[in-house]
Amino acid sequence: MSVSVFPEENEPRIEALLQQMSLDEKIGQLNQYALREEHTGPLGKKGQVAKRMKLVAEGKIGSVLNLTGAKAIREVQQIAVKQTRLGIPLLFAYDVIHGYETMFPVPLGESASWDLTAIEKSSRISAIEAAAAGLHWTFAPMVDVTRDARWGRVMEGAGEDPYLGAQVAWARVRGFQGDNLADINALAACAKHFAGYGFSESGKDYNAVDLSRHTLQNVVLPPFRAALEAGVATFMNGFNTLGGVPVTADAYLQRDLLKGSWKFAGPVVSDWNSIGEIITHGAASDKMEAALLAMTAGSDIDMESDAYLDHLQSLVEDGSLDEKSIDDAVSRVLRLKFALGLFDDPYLRSSSEREKSIIGAARHHEHAREVARKSLVLLRNENDLLPLQKDQKIALIGPLAADKDTPLGNWRARAKSNSAISVQEGLSAYFDDDLDYSIGCQIVESSFDFAKKIEFAEEDKTHFAAALQIAREADIVVAVMGETANMSGEGRSRADIGLPGLQQELLREICQVNDRVVLVLMTGRPLALAWEAENIPAILLAWHAGSQAGHAITDVLMGAYCPSGKLPMSFPRSVGQLPMYYNHLSTGRPTAAPGLVFYQHHNDVDRRPLYPFGHGLSYTSFRFENLKLEKEEYYFGDSIRVTVELKNIGATKGEEVVQLYLQDLVAMPARPVLELKGFQKIELAQGESRIVSFQWETTDLGYWTAEGEWKIEAGMFRVFVGGSSEHLLESNFILNEKDEY
Ligand code: NOJ
Repeated sequence: MSVSVFPEENEPRIEALLQQMSLDEKIGQLNQYALREEHTGPLGKKGQVAKRMKLVAEGKIGSVLNLTGAKAIREVQQIAVKQTRLGIPLLFAYDVIHGYETMFPVPLGESASWDLTAIEKSSRISAIEAAAAGLHWTFAPMVDVTRDARWGRVMEGAGEDPYLGAQVAWARVRGFQGDNLADINALAACAKHFAGYGFSESGKDYNAVDLSRHTLQNVVLPPFRAALEAGVATFMNGFNTLGGVPVTADAYLQRDLLKGSWKFAGPVVSDWNSIGEIITHGAASDKMEAALLAMTAGSDIDMESDAYLDHLQSLVEDGSLDEKSIDDAVSRVLRLKFALGLFDDPYLRSSSEREKSIIGAARHHEHAREVARKSLVLLRNENDLLPLQKDQKIALIGPLAADKDTPLGNWRARAKSNSAISVQEGLSAYFDDDLDYSIGCQIVESSFDFAKKIEFAEEDKTHFAAALQIAREADIVVAVMGETANMSGEGRSRADIGLPGLQQELLREICQVNDRVVLVLMTGRPLALAWEAENIPAILLAWHAGSQAGHAITDVLMGAYCPSGKLPMSFPRSVGQLPMYYNHLSTGRPTAAPGLVFYQHHNDVDRRPLYPFGHGLSYTSFRFENLKLEKEEYYFGDSIRVTVELKNIGATKGEEVVQLYLQDLVAMPARPVLELKGFQKIELAQGESRIVSFQWETTDLGYWTAEGEWKIEAGMFRVFVGGSSEHLLESNFILNEKDEY
C-alpha cells in the first residue's frame, strides 16, 4: 500500500500562489545553495555567504543546504519571509545520513541488523534531532544497490540486495518522515541517487555506469520504488552517467519513469553541481545548454551550479523552454513546502530551547547502543573463543581500540568529533578497571592531496614491542583494527581493500606470541581478509557503529548480547573477485567437471565469497528443518505458504534471521541463482523451537521487464530457507498459468 504525503487540499493553494509569481520569482524557488562550509560542500570564494544572503533577500533562492541550528535557520528564514515580495519560506536541507548529533551505525552496518523496526527508529530519532535544529529535509536515504566494495559509498547504503534494500528504504523513509510531514518532528526524506550511481565502473566514485535496462529494473530500481511507496517526499539524481547520459539530464529516468509511470509528485533535486557537470561529462557545451537539458529532463532544483539562476530566464524568454516546465518544477517545490507546514508556521522547527533539550537525549543514546549491538556481525568464532570470560586477562591492542572518532563513521552530520565511546572505554566501564592496552601501530589516512603518494600507514613499528609484550602476558588478545571513518564514504574508493597499513603485519606478530586473538573489525565496507579468516580465530565485524560503539561492542564481546547481525554485502577473498554478489546469474559454465579449466572462475582464488551475503554467527546454534510447501503445484492467483521449523539447539537465548530465497528456474531473460524474497528475525530461548511461515501471492513471483512491466512466468521454482545465502534447505514447486478444472 502506498503512502501519500502531499495533501490534496494544498493543491488550490499551490495553484493560487503560482499564479501570483513572476518568472523571476518562480526560478528563485529552483535554486539551492549552501550557507555554511562542509567538507562535502566547499563554499569556494570568500564573501560567498554574504552574496548568497543577498540572493535570499531577493527571493532568488528557494532552499538552503548545510546551514544548521534553530537560531541560524530562524534568522535566514526571517529574511526570506519578511523581505521578499511573496514571503515564501525557505527549505533547509542537510545530509542527515545516520544521525544528526547522536550517531547510529553507518547505514550499511545498520542494515546488517535486518531489524526494520530498529532501523526505522534510528531514522526517527535522526529526524527528531535534525528537526529540532531547524531542518526540514534530509538528503537520505541513499538507496543505491552496490556490488563493489571498492566504492567508498557502500557504507551509506543497504548493500547488494534489492529486496533487503527495499525493506530498509521503506523503514528509513517512514522513520524520517513519520506520519505527517507537517509534524514538528518530521524531516522530508530524499531517495538518492536516481539512478545507477552504485554501479560505477571498478567501484571508482563518480565513474561512468553502464547497465542493462533489465538490471536497472530488477536490481537498481526496487529500493527507489519502495521509497516511493513509503511516500518519500523528494528524489535526488546523481553524478553518474548511465549509458553515456548524465542522469541529471536523463529524461527517461526522471520524466518517463519517476514522474510519468511512477507518478511522483514531489521535487527532484540535482546533486551538488551535477547540472554543471553535464558539461564536464561532455554532454553539453555550456551552462545554458546544461540548464536546458536538466530542466527538460526533470531536474527541478539546481544544487549549487548557478545554471538555473543564470540561464532559465533567458531560456524561457527565447522560447527554448516552455514556462510550463518551470511551473511544474516550482509547484513541486511548493508542494513540499506546503506539506511541511512552512506556510502555516515557517519557524515551527526553530526553537533554540527545544533544540537544547532534544539533541543528544539519553534515550537517543540508549537506542544507539541497542541498534549498534544488533548490527554487529560475528564472522568467525573458532572453538567458541567468544564470548570472553570475566576472569580472562585481556590485552587490548590496535589503532582503533581507543579511537573515539572512527566509530562515528563518515557522513556524521553534527556529531562532535571524538565523541563516540571507544572500545577501550566500553571494556573499562564493564570491568570497572583499565585493561592492558597498546596502540600497536598507527593508521595514516589517505592524503586529500591527490598529487601526493597515497599512504595508509607509517612504517613506524615503535609500538609493536609494547603490543607484543602485553599480548604475551594475556589470556586473550582483543585487536581493534580496520578503516578509519574517512576511509569510506564519498570520494573514498579504494583499490586495495585489505586491512590498511601495518595492521596485518602486527596481527601476524601477535599470533606468534598468543594465538587466542579476537579481531574487532571497524570498517565502512567489506574488506578482503583471506589471511585473517584463516589465522584469526574470532572476528567480530563492528562497522563504524556510532556514538555508543564501545558499549555495544563490549555487550557482544562479553556475552551480554548474543550477536545476531547478518551480512548485507558479501565479503570477497580478494579484490580481484569484485564485483561480488550472491544473486548472480548462473552462466553457461557454472561448475567444473573434475580437472577442467573452462568454467566460470578465477584460476587463483576459491570462487566462493569469504563470507557470503546473509552470513553471521551467534553464540547459540540454530537448526532449520521440515521446510514445507503446502502443495507441489500452484496456479496464478494462488497464495503460497512456506513453513520451516527453527530450533535453538545451543546453550543460550539468541536471534536468528530466517532468510527465504527463490529461484525462477527458467525465464527469459534468465533469473539469478538466488533472490532474497523474505526474512524474519526470530528470538528463541535455549531449546525453544518455532514454525516460521512466509506467505507469497503468485503475483509476487514475477520480475520487471526492461520496459518496466511486471511479468510472471509459469514454470518451476525453487524455494530456499536458511540462516545465510550459503546454507539452505530447499524445495520445489510448479507455477501453472491457470487451473484447468
Ligand atoms: C554530494 C553527494 O553525492 C550527495 O549525496 C549529497 O547529498 C550532496 N553532496 C549534498 O551534500
